Amino acid sequence: MYETIKYQVSENIGYVTINRPKAMNALNGQVLDELYAAFTEAAADEQVKAVILTGEGKAFVAGADIAQMNQLDAIEGRALIAKGHKVMNYMESIEKPFIAAVNGFALGGGCELAMACDIRIASEKAKFGQPEVNLGIIPGFGGTQRLPRLVGKGMAKYMIMTAEMIGAEEACRIGLVEKVVAPEELIPACEKLAQTIMSKAPIAIGIAKTTINNGYDLDMRAASALEIEAFASTFASQDKTEGMTAFLEKKEAKFQNK
Ligand code: CAA
Repeated sequence: MYETIKYQVSENIGYVTINRPKAMNALNGQVLDELYAAFTEAAADEQVKAVILTGEGKAFVAGADIAQMNQLDAIEGRALIAKGHKVMNYMESIEKPFIAAVNGFALGGGCELAMACDIRIASEKAKFGQPEVNLGIIPGFGGTQRLPRLVGKGMAKYMIMTAEMIGAEEACRIGLVEKVVAPEELIPACEKLAQTIMSKAPIAIGIAKTTINNGYDLDMRAASALEIEAFASTFASQDKTEGMTAFLEKKEAKFQNK
């Protein structure tokens, strides 16, 4: 059904693999459409409780497709970039955790796609960068906005203005990734992380994700108000009763996603 990505579900994890290895998994309009469709499937599927996003071959994603962009005028370029924003904003709005398994090059739109995930685990071989100024353009899938929010304005300007590629350890040091593992450990480490998150109360996980995302850019007063209401909504779940009762009875909680 998909031509540029692979999507499969196994043991409550939706695996999305960008599958254009000959083009370093570059994001063209079709890849973005198919990612949106796969994420929609994952969001609607009750079996899927977490998503792991990775790339086939030696790249995670080496950016937006330069061959395609080279053909576009400003209006068409705007449409492509708006499509990328639609995909990445959608990832942040879905109440299921997205884990980026960064297997190799995460450049330009690839670094931006990883940043739209909730948590990033990188292979020691991964390389990160925002090389757009080499092409006469700027980051367009959220890089000028998400990168400073993750690593601070100074480091974001350093990366965007120099176009320098950094390794996984440096990416971890600056807060662009959460963990670095050996290449063969990448998928197992992401699965272990997904399983840990999936063992918690799913409604609380979803509300935590959206409360962090929706509150991040608000002023503290509005963000506090948001948290109060979000917190209160968890009290309406049966999982809150289950979690607290199990704790008090010294038992393991069995969450029902209710
Ligand atoms: N778009 C289209 N094709 C790409 C691509 C991209 N972003 N990145 C790599 N490719 C293609 C290459 O053109 C090449 O194709 P051919 O075999 O047909 O020649 C193939 O993938 C393999 O690439 P290389 O031969 O260059 O492989 P390498 O191992 O020598 O280098 C690399 C790998 C460092 C990732 C290098 O390919 C590279 O620098 N790619 C471009 C990175 C880049 O500039 N990304 C930013 C894109 S702009 C963007 O993303 C804007 C935005 O924010 C939305």
